[in-house]
Amino acid sequence: MTNKQIYIRLLGYSRPYLWRIVLSMIFSLVVAGTDVSYVNLIEPLVDKIISAGNRDLVYLVPMVIIGLALVKGVGRYLQEYYVKTAGQLVIQDLRNDLFKQSMLLSMGFHLRQQSGRLTSRVLNDVGTMQRAAADALVDGLRESFTLVGLIILAFYKDWKMAAVAFSVLPLCVVPARQLGLRIKQNTKRSLERVGFLTGTLQESFGGIKVVKAFGREDSHIQKFRGENKLYYRFLRKAIKYNSLTAPAVEILAALGGAGVVWYGVNRVLTGEMTQGQLFSIVAAIMMTFTPVKRLTKVSNDIQQSIGAAEGIFNLLDQPRDVVDKHNAVEMSRAHGEVAFDNVTFSYGDEPVLKDVSFLANPGEVIALVGPSGAGKSTVAGLLARFYDPQQGAVKIDGYDIRDVSQESLKKNLAFVDQETFLFNGSIRDNIRYGLLDADESAVVAAARQAYADEFIDKLPEGYDSSIGERGVRLSGGQRQRLCVARALLKDAPILILDEATSALDTESEAMVQRALANLMKNRTTLVIAHRLSTIMHADRIIVLEQGRVVEVGSHQELLARNGLYRSLYDMQFKEA
Ligand SMILES: Nc1ncnc2c1ncn2[C@@H]1O[C@H](COP(=O)(O)OP(=O)(O)O)[C@@H](O)[C@H]1O
Ligand SMILES: [Mg+2]
Repeated sequence: MTNKQIYIRLLGYSRPYLWRIVLSMIFSLVVAGTDVSYVNLIEPLVDKIISAGNRDLVYLVPMVIIGLALVKGVGRYLQEYYVKTAGQLVIQDLRNDLFKQSMLLSMGFHLRQQSGRLTSRVLNDVGTMQRAAADALVDGLRESFTLVGLIILAFYKDWKMAAVAFSVLPLCVVPARQLGLRIKQNTKRSLERVGFLTGTLQESFGGIKVVKAFGREDSHIQKFRGENKLYYRFLRKAIKYNSLTAPAVEILAALGGAGVVWYGVNRVLTGEMTQGQLFSIVAAIMMTFTPVKRLTKVSNDIQQSIGAAEGIFNLLDQPRDVVDKHNAVEMSRAHGEVAFDNVTFSYGDEPVLKDVSFLANPGEVIALVGPSGAGKSTVAGLLARFYDPQQGAVKIDGYDIRDVSQESLKKNLAFVDQETFLFNGSIRDNIRYGLLDADESAVVAAARQAYADEFIDKLPEGYDSSIGERGVRLSGGQRQRLCVARALLKDAPILILDEATSALDTESEAMVQRALANLMKNRTTLVIAHRLSTIMHADRIIVLEQGRVVEVGSHQELLARNGLYRSLYDMQFKEA
């Protein structure tokens, strides 16, 4: 993406707030006008009042100064207010778009992406852009108007002297360009470092239990220090280049200033110009240096926001690989026939599922078994359309699920795995996650069927109890029963259970197992469980090995075959 493309996209984002920017421009003109008027006051002050001794005007000038200050103050306030709010609104839109995009990108994207980097994009990259863009907008508008006004005034007063003074201005572009380029690169790199920093933070806080259990606090502290130091290294460079700009411009400006004084004093001495004219033009020229300095800073800010914007637009441009077709079918409640037709799928280069086919009739329970890494969870993920297969098709009621709108597809699916992820909030909200507009009686009924009501009723605040982040205030079995309740409330015709009880102790498992039995009633169920006792009664058992279906049949049939299922079964039987 070139700088120009980035500008154009940013301008696109500011279009809805155009009137704020226009207002700000108008007030910038007011501010610039007052600055120019100040300079215009000097000549009459010196020549008419001080030199000529006109006492009538003595009172007028201070009044004008105060009046101008008032006008300038109001102008400045309104200019800043409008442009800054416009900037914030643009940033707000960008941040919303980024989050929306992150939510809509596929599971495949999220598996590849470090979540810390993503969080950092939405928070830090946008934040950096926000600060840089806000400063650039405020100063950029005002200072460029002021600069243009002062330059015109100086040329109008004495074009020869102005030419001497401003001959150095084009030279300022050189350091600004060079430094700007470096600032942009550094911004990009330092934001990358912030991403790692955020990642380290998330990992350390998210995994605090493991950290504590292994006593690894020190290594995390060291890692964080290291990341922090690297971040500083890039920041230091950014500071260096930023701080170099003003002195570079100042030195160049001194050349212009020196030329003006030398030339001007000579002309006053030869009587070519009055003292008042000299003071006035020197003041006009000196006053231009401030906007010039600020504008080079603005150019730095712009480079900084472009550096940040590049990463932001990059994320916004990520193709959404799992999307609705434009003529996607709105599937109503499915009967629940699930079919895998010759599905081949890979996360990377190596296929993880090879030519997998099976059929589940409505209401049937199909079990997937096989050694760890065989591809069972991948089958579940494909049915939930976390990813799309490279070959073959996953079908529900005969529809290829890629032809169905994702919204209507997800309404037909309920998913319970061993992760038992709950959201920070009340128990009621977490159950209702399955069906946002469910009424109280439906929530309670779901909890009862999931055998969750007994522990919920014992909590002091019942369904209003807060469960803490990720449900940390509940036991594993309690969490899982809430997940089952959430799925029950959704009442989808197709159910996916991926090792739903694997993380539980025997007693909770028995409880959750009963809850699951309620959940499975009248639904097509794809159940994955390594404990074969839980799937013995499935209508069909599919045995996967290294991504291929190697055996299909009922428990009895598979035992009789003396194949992989038999050996898995014998292994567990011996353990027991
Ligand atoms: N996100 C992923 N990226 C790359 N490979 C993966 C990913 N998830 C799983 N795999 C690989 O795919 C294979 C099947 O994994 P999975 O379906 O989780 O197995 P199972 O659930 O049967 O234990 C494994 O070899 C695993 O290493
Ligand atoms: Mg698995």
